[in-house]
Amino acid sequence: MKLPNIFKIFKQERYVGVDIGTSSIKIVELSKIRDTFRLENYGEIKFSEKEAPMEVYEQSPLKMLDEDVADLLKKIIADTGVSAKQAAFSLPVFSSFSTIIELPPMPKEDMEKAIQFEARQYVPIPISEVSIDSLVIGEEKKKHDEQKNSSSKEEIQQAQQQKLKKKHLEVLLVAVPNEIKKKYQHIAELAELVLVALEMETFPMARALLKGSRGISIVVDIGARSTDICIVDEGVVRISHNLEFSGVDITKAYSAFTGANFVEAEVKKKVIGLNLTPGQLSEAKELTGVVDGIIGETERIIHSYFNKTGRQVQQVVLAGGVSRMPGFLERFHEHLSLPIVIGNPFEGLIYPQELTKTLNDIGPTFAVAVGLAMRR
Ligand SMILES: Nc1ncnc2c1ncn2[C@@H]1O[C@H](COP(=O)(O)OP(=O)(O)OP(=O)(O)O)[C@@H](O)[C@H]1O
Ligand SMILES: [Mg+2]
Repeated sequence: MKLPNIFKIFKQERYVGVDIGTSSIKIVELSKIRDTFRLENYGEIKFSEKEAPMEVYEQSPLKMLDEDVADLLKKIIADTGVSAKQAAFSLPVFSSFSTIIELPPMPKEDMEKAIQFEARQYVPIPISEVSIDSLVIGEEKKKHDEQKNSSSKEEIQQAQQQKLKKKHLEVLLVAVPNEIKKKYQHIAELAELVLVALEMETFPMARALLKGSRGISIVVDIGARSTDICIVDEGVVRISHNLEFSGVDITKAYSAFTGANFVEAEVKKKVIGLNLTPGQLSEAKELTGVVDGIIGETERIIHSYFNKTGRQVQQVVLAGGVSRMPGFLERFHEHLSLPIVIGNPFEGLIYPQELTKTLNDIGPTFAVAVGLAMRR
């Protein structure tokens, strides 16, 4: 969508975020005024129109021809009026590897070698075929531990022990297969964009939804093809999981339950969702099975994180198209006693007031694209 010119008085440096999802491409252009981002343009283009057969709808964008993806991207750029060329693209979680490794304290010049060595153990494909990115995150955490006010003697002792344990460095390691990197570079080039960053989608998602807030959140992104669940602790993505069931499975389950074809079931899912009578719900086992599977996995990850670290998740943030399904948030509430919110990446950004309702509505699906454009 093109925004009115009144919002474009100052010519600011602009950045573009491109999220190539399974069901659509989302694009967001932001500029920055001091510490605040201003929304310049945004838009979404679906991969398949209503008539498209389910097979097409289910296809991963990675399998589509670069030229076809780039053509759609060019179309959405023209339609929205996005003018910046520097763009960050997201990578689906299943396409790359990320982990947090621990290294003993060492001089900076030795770190590169140590990271390469460690990466060999974690990355299941030859290290010569991946690009590795790393970021020290342990330092930041230590600083925070020191800031905490420990009131009792025990707490002080515990904090000191904790600090001793943290003498190692925690390094976030992300490995992207070169082949995938090349593919995205090619798509960007064809769409006349300059690829300035490729980020695994959980990182921009956390950036856009949590905006650096402290505390411990679990972010659940339920898209068309997959559900990504990650724990963000003190601003750092600590754990991420990818489930192979999501929006398309919910549509299929809806179709099985109602006898409607895929296209009709897709509409019913969005309009009625889980707002069914108790009798209907007990009949729709496949449907509730998918939804409860996502909720169960979220609970499992919360417990496993607590068992491993002693740290309790404080809130659940839902994102992705499925989070908008009627009755979905309520079903989460039935199982989890934590605060649960539907994420809105546009919150805190500057935009014309008349867009508030629309942006609140589309927010959950735009989190990745907003987070990419926020990257500097
Ligand atoms: N109001 C709604 N109710 C239920 N489902 C919805 C609603 N709006 C969108 N969806 C579903 O959300 C999915 C699309 O969400 P999203 O745009 O987040 O996915 P994506 O990013 O393309 O996919 P992925 O992240 O898996 O690659 C589709 O399955 C769509 O049917
Ligand atoms: Mg997505």
